[in-house]
Amino acid sequence: MADVETIAHDVLVIGAGGAGLRAAIAAAGRGVSVGMVCKSLLGKAHTVMAEGGIAAALGNVDDRDSWKVHFADTMRGGQYLNNWRMAELHAKEAPDRVRELEAWGALFDRTRDGRILQRNFGGHKYPRLAHVGDRTGLEMIRTLQDHGIHAGIDVHMECTVITLLKDGDRVAGALVYDRERGRFHVFRAKAVVLATGGIGRAYRITSNSWEYTGDGHALAYRAGAVLQDMEFVQFHPTGMVWPPSVRGILVTEGVRGEGGVLKNRDGRRFMFDDVPENYRNQTATDPDEGWRYTQGDKSARRPPELLTRDHVARCIVREVREGRGSPHGGVYLDIAWIRERLPNAADHIRKKLPSMYHQFKQLADIDITREPMEVGPTTHYIMGGIRVDGDSQMSTVPGLFAAGECAAGLHGANRLGGNSLSDLLVFGKRAGDHAADFASQHGAVTVDPCAVDAAARWALEPFARTDGEGPFAIQHALQETMQDLVGIVRREEEMQRALVALGALQARAARVAVDGNREYNPGWHTALDLHNLLTVAEAITRSAIDRRESRGGHFRDDHPAKDPAAGGYNTVVRRGPDGAMQLAREAIPPVPAELRAVLTEMG
Ligand code: FUM
Repeated sequence: MADVETIAHDVLVIGAGGAGLRAAIAAAGRGVSVGMVCKSLLGKAHTVMAEGGIAAALGNVDDRDSWKVHFADTMRGGQYLNNWRMAELHAKEAPDRVRELEAWGALFDRTRDGRILQRNFGGHKYPRLAHVGDRTGLEMIRTLQDHGIHAGIDVHMECTVITLLKDGDRVAGALVYDRERGRFHVFRAKAVVLATGGIGRAYRITSNSWEYTGDGHALAYRAGAVLQDMEFVQFHPTGMVWPPSVRGILVTEGVRGEGGVLKNRDGRRFMFDDVPENYRNQTATDPDEGWRYTQGDKSARRPPELLTRDHVARCIVREVREGRGSPHGGVYLDIAWIRERLPNAADHIRKKLPSMYHQFKQLADIDITREPMEVGPTTHYIMGGIRVDGDSQMSTVPGLFAAGECAAGLHGANRLGGNSLSDLLVFGKRAGDHAADFASQHGAVTVDPCAVDAAARWALEPFARTDGEGPFAIQHALQETMQDLVGIVRREEEMQRALVALGALQARAARVAVDGNREYNPGWHTALDLHNLLTVAEAITRSAIDRRESRGGHFRDDHPAKDPAAGGYNTVVRRGPDGAMQLAREAIPPVPAELRAVLTEMG
């Protein structure tokens, strides 16, 4: 391939959100050469959609908090499918990562006595989310970028990875095309960190922007890595539902953390109707107690709006299905009601939730200090991903690491809000450190030119076809299939239909054709993304069919109860020798005695 440029680094980081930036900073700090490729412009990452805060047991607002409580909350939220080692490391290291971010320039909101302020979020026992209004992810990205700029990282923007390259069993780099000119580049590297985020674009309604097509998941899978827990997709309860052009955009859980309540068409706070047994002794029984909790009364229990996301999302679906929804198919989220309790409520809301105020004013002409918002569930996050070692973040492919949303383990069956940002920092750093060490301890890699040629030829095939269809109709059909048949509430018969539909879409995608040339061609980009979207959609569907119970983000209408036996395994998928997807159940290693004792102590 005459026009393929080769760039060599010790460590290549793919993805430049919070996990990628933190990994690159860590690796560069170890003195190795670091390259970073990102699909979009630097700084444009789903990290900014974690608006409400970073979870870390600093204990600034409630000194009863500790790593042990955070660990127990994360395990309970994840319904004990978590990689317990990751949950332990995360709870122990998150406070240091937050303080480090502050030392690097992040400007957190403060308590009256000048410490980092923390707010309530669903499933967290105490106020735990360090935040910057409702722009925490943005502040985190800004800080990491500012810090990283001085670390000597070589950044390649608007580059999409076509395939990972291998040298024997070991990863050896990646073949990439730049979106602007459509030219190919080989990045040779002794270690690669995948930090590509999620899969939201496999669904019609999502908080994810166009970049999130499951690239890291699919690249790793095709390189021989194992994926796990792919059935667990998180539907955030509150996305915008109106107007149609903004459907799915996130409405931060911080609204509920600041006292916002959910109401149906009849004005009823329906969340009081359905509190799960295991949360009953922690949940307020009346509005007054819920309000006192949000105002810091330590003797009050939390309002039911702050139950875990999977539960809240299902309650909203129920209200809508049973005809008690809002005019555009959602429910009402009301923060304006606090005018009854606070004399300066409008100023207070604008100060605590500035982005939400502007978002609704500009996009929906709603003043949230006076009127309720219309909200409904939106595909936000996937708990499943690349199986990694809890300490090093290395996948089952030597030299291939993963961090952040594309890695599995920390969150089990359901992630608690705010645990994503702390995940990115804790495991981004660990992945970067260990990738740098791996690169230092292992010799050079060789890239096979035949593999590069084959992948480049494959990527150009859509231009050569004259009789295929365009990619956009296939992408649309895929999103409809996943939304309608493998969504919040699942049934065997519907998922089997989805599997058949995905097979047909794979056949159509294999014949996809595009017009024009390689210079900035969205049709071509979508044609290549389809390959990844279809891989992750199949993994989600097969895993969801196999788990015949309801747990965390995976709810089966035909198996609504939890099956105790199913709590002992993770669903894993790998690529078989014939290229077909193979599914297995793998036992979760037993929780060691000292961590079991923590879980018991925390009740
Ligand atoms: O609602 C939110 O602000 C989202 C946070 C998260 O996903 O962690």
